[in-house]
Amino acid sequence: MIKRSTIDEIMSVAKVDEVINDYVNLKRRGANLIGLCPFHNEKTPSFTVSPAKNLYKCFGCGKGGGAVNFLMEHENFTYPEALRYLAQKYNIRIEEEVRSDEALEEQKHNESLLIISEMAAEYFQEQLHFSAEGRSIGLSYFKHRGLNEQTMKTFGLGYGYRDPNQFKNYALGKGYNEDLLKEVGLLSSKGLDFFRERVIFPFHNLSGKVIGFGGRIIKDNVKAPKYLNSPESPIYNKRKTLYGLYQARTSIRKSDQCILVEGYTDVLALHQSDITNVVASSGTSLTEQQARLIKRFTSNVLVIFDGDLAGEKAAIRGLNIFLEQGINVSLVLLPAGQDPDSQVNELGKSAFTEFIESHKADFILYQAHKIDTEYKMDPVNKSVHIKELSKSLSLIRDQIKRSVYVKECAGILDIDERTLFREINKNIRKDVSKKKSRETSYVPVREKFVDFDPGEDHSQGIQQIVDPTEYQERDIVRVLITSGNKWYDEDKKLNIATYILNNLEGITDYFKDELTKIILQEYSKILNDQIEVQSSYWTEHSNEQVRTFAVDVLSEKYTYAEWSKKGLELQTQKPVEENHVKDSYQAILRFKLKKIVERIEELKRIFSDNTDESKDVILITAYQKLLKERQQLAEELKVTVM
Ligand code: UTP
Ligand code: MN
Repeated sequence: MIKRSTIDEIMSVAKVDEVINDYVNLKRRGANLIGLCPFHNEKTPSFTVSPAKNLYKCFGCGKGGGAVNFLMEHENFTYPEALRYLAQKYNIRIEEEVRSDEALEEQKHNESLLIISEMAAEYFQEQLHFSAEGRSIGLSYFKHRGLNEQTMKTFGLGYGYRDPNQFKNYALGKGYNEDLLKEVGLLSSKGLDFFRERVIFPFHNLSGKVIGFGGRIIKDNVKAPKYLNSPESPIYNKRKTLYGLYQARTSIRKSDQCILVEGYTDVLALHQSDITNVVASSGTSLTEQQARLIKRFTSNVLVIFDGDLAGEKAAIRGLNIFLEQGINVSLVLLPAGQDPDSQVNELGKSAFTEFIESHKADFILYQAHKIDTEYKMDPVNKSVHIKELSKSLSLIRDQIKRSVYVKECAGILDIDERTLFREINKNIRKDVSKKKSRETSYVPVREKFVDFDPGEDHSQGIQQIVDPTEYQERDIVRVLITSGNKWYDEDKKLNIATYILNNLEGITDYFKDELTKIILQEYSKILNDQIEVQSSYWTEHSNEQVRTFAVDVLSEKYTYAEWSKKGLELQTQKPVEENHVKDSYQAILRFKLKKIVERIEELKRIFSDNTDESKDVILITAYQKLLKERQQLAEELKVTVM
């Protein structure tokens, strides 16, 4: 593990603009640099780099962070990989920390498993190209399926022998450990070759390392399963793997689209036809992790379904996973009996592309049309399916996008928009309360919704009610991030973070906003451990919500424009940076004021519900006391409270 001191050194030396300049053409504009965002397609630059704040932010797609985070996002580096890259760039010598024995053991163990898998992949490849059996059975099979040498090489295809001792003898002869060979499933529990008389498709992780295999049977008429896949192991988790992603990743990012197909051979056939942004989910139904994996590269997915209608319904419902991740989904159903492999081979590249373009349908609209045509004369089933559709709609987080869809769907289905909205809101509420009840460590902030009745005024669109408390709460962590380590009172050696957290002691549990809670908790830990944190601590944070929030509050745009837009009484005349004592003091006051206003409202309710006259006096006294407190706070804040 890289030593903390080395990390600090790297963080203090690395300049975000210099790092990004190696990848993006940046032009100066005022204090900032701008360029075309490397994370999404755009024609006018909205990707902004602030050398002064040492952060980047794209106002188009919302991505933002520091130098390390940029490398992790853009190059898919892991955290240590990004640090090593920077160390090299800035000539910093890396000092390693001795790891705990256990962690070291585990790392070594995983490395051994990777080495074994790599060795096996090379062996299978050798056999495919250079052994008699491999050539006559495996290679001729691949050729028969139309695959060329280049494709076989790109995907590292191989062949496993018929003889169940062939690979075993080779590997043991080379001194590889039998237990490890079993652990990655290359040998069966009986110690025989796992992949026998099969052509082999290695699986890669995002660094291109082999982590497992799929093996396809050659003979068609045998009882054995068509494909055998490596069992799960410390290096292979099928729920987190997408076949072909390593080979497709650059192309997915460039085209800003990911094509998802069902089979390994479909990936190969399309890749060979120059459609290289394609992955397969490997026979299992799509998982949330896989959707998130795709989301790292693009927000647009096109799913091509094989033309066997059997699995259709379940498979289509499965696409909701993409909506949940904020991914746009369209789909194509191939004609009966076809899969992308057979179809592209039959039509050729350009006719295939044309076919896809002309047959692809938006996932949501597809569902609406289908309901409309299939259940025209069947209102009962129609309504059941509309409920199903409203589930998909409620997963769309972007409100504008959602209301556009609602309008479209209502038109297609010939129903009232309001009815659809009501159903959607019901789903959302259910979802929010479900999430709340199983809230464990971290749940991203969810907006609150109310039933929307479009009534006469359509201009309003769907209403979103965000609990204003959130802003008061977030304002406090804004101050923590922007100036937590500055002095509140230098003589007393009291910094702003300590001042704020002392003031909030005992009440942090009452905060409603999850993001605020996370940051508060983390900051108390920082203070406890007496670590000095720089802003890079936040802009390089591994939690995306935290990181994005930090980037937003650290760039002036947010501090002045956003907060005042939200109706926050930001009284700072001087830039916040120069006035952080007052800023932090006021953030606390605003929060307290907010809480008092809430209690006043509560008391009012209690008062009007109260039937016991003898309690009236007590209530009125409490009420007046709160009003007074409110008055004082308001005066101190110099804002008028209605
Ligand atoms: P298909 O049967 O459509 O496979 O299963 P395919 O890739 O088109 O194979 P060919 O064209 O007949 O050679 C789709 C995917 O389901 C998984 C594999 O990932 C396969 O690519 N699968 C299928 C299995 O894992 N095991 C099986 O027994 C069958
Ligand atoms: Mn096929």
